[in-house]
This record gives sequence, structure tokens and C-alpha cells, in this order.
Amino acid sequence: PLTLLIVAALAYLLGSVPFGIVMARLFGLGDLRKIGSGNIGATNVLRTGNKPAALLTLLGDAGKGGAAVLLARALVGEDAAQLAGLMAFLGHCFPVFLRFQGGKGVATFLGTLLALSFPLGLVVCLTWAATAAVTRMSSLSALVAAVSGPVWALWLHPSGVGLCIALAALIGYRHKANIARIRAGTEPKIGET
Ligand code: G3P
Repeated sequence: PLTLLIVAALAYLLGSVPFGIVMARLFGLGDLRKIGSGNIGATNVLRTGNKPAALLTLLGDAGKGGAAVLLARALVGEDAAQLAGLMAFLGHCFPVFLRFQGGKGVATFLGTLLALSFPLGLVVCLTWAATAAVTRMSSLSALVAAVSGPVWALWLHPSGVGLCIALAALIGYRHKANIARIRAGTEPKIGET
């Protein structure tokens, strides 16, 4: 139990590192929270037009989820791996470094799933990409990918179904404003503001 508590705390701290804010600052793009949707994720970094910064944000935010899972699995075991993925995700959405005002968790969700089960992560990424190819909306693609997660997990990684349900619910909750815009027909396409 103490080990799991330490894993949870470290994964949460790792997940709290806001790569979007870091990259926006490194690339001199200004305060990300005053741009576009105000979100700290790669989709919003892309609205500045800086593709390398957006890609590095995506890789950083996905990588921290993946790293949390792989480290916890190597050092403790499979239960710890799932806990670490969940805590890294919560760290991204509610980061201690940003007074708990964080992101929407999509990249961290994808990185976590890729590390938990590569086939599962891959099909969820492909679900995102297929939806994005059709709708050109990052948020809608994330919502479809998140909802598809538990269904794919039933087939590819049954022990991860519970985690996928929890992450899908949290992603839905974090996308409340996007869902309202999608319904109103005002959600911007990828790269647009
Ligand atoms: O990854 C977050 C994405 O789904 C939505 O981002 O900036 O369009 O609200 P944004």
C-alpha cells in the first residue's frame, strides 16, 4: 500500500508537468491560456501555427503518461502500472503547478494506453486519426477515441476496461465546453482558431 501511494504521488507529479506551457514559453509563443481555447494541450499550441512546438507538446504529454506506466510496471507491477496511468492523467488535468487548472488529458490518455497495451493504444490512436480525417475536429476525435477505448479494451486488453471507462468519463467531463461548441456548430477545425 505504501509503495502504491508513492507510485501514485510520483505519477501525479510527472503528469502535472504542462508541456504545452513549457513549449509555448520555449518557442516564445506567449501565454497559451490567452490563445484559442485557452487549453494547455497540443491542439491549442497548433493554433499558434508552430507545428514543432505542437508536436513536442503532444510527445511530452503522451510521453509522461507512457513513462509513468512503464516505470511503475518495471519497478512495482501491473496494478501499479494502471494506477500510475490514471494518476498521470489526473496530474495533467489538475496539475499542482498550475493551481489545478490543467488540460483535457487526451495526449496523456493516448500515451498511457500505448504503454499499457501497445495494440490497444494503437487502435485508439487510429480511431482518433480516422475521426479527425473525417471531421477535422480535435475535440470530437478525442471524444470518439475515448468512448471507443473501453470497447477496444474488451477485445484487446480486458484488464484495462475499468481504467478506460474512468478515463473516457474524465475526458468527456473535461470537454464540456467543446461539446457545447460541437452542438452549436462553432467548434473550430484543427489548426483554426
Ligand atoms: O486535446 C484537447 C482537444 O481534444 C481539444 O482541445 O484546444 O480544441 O479545446 P481544444
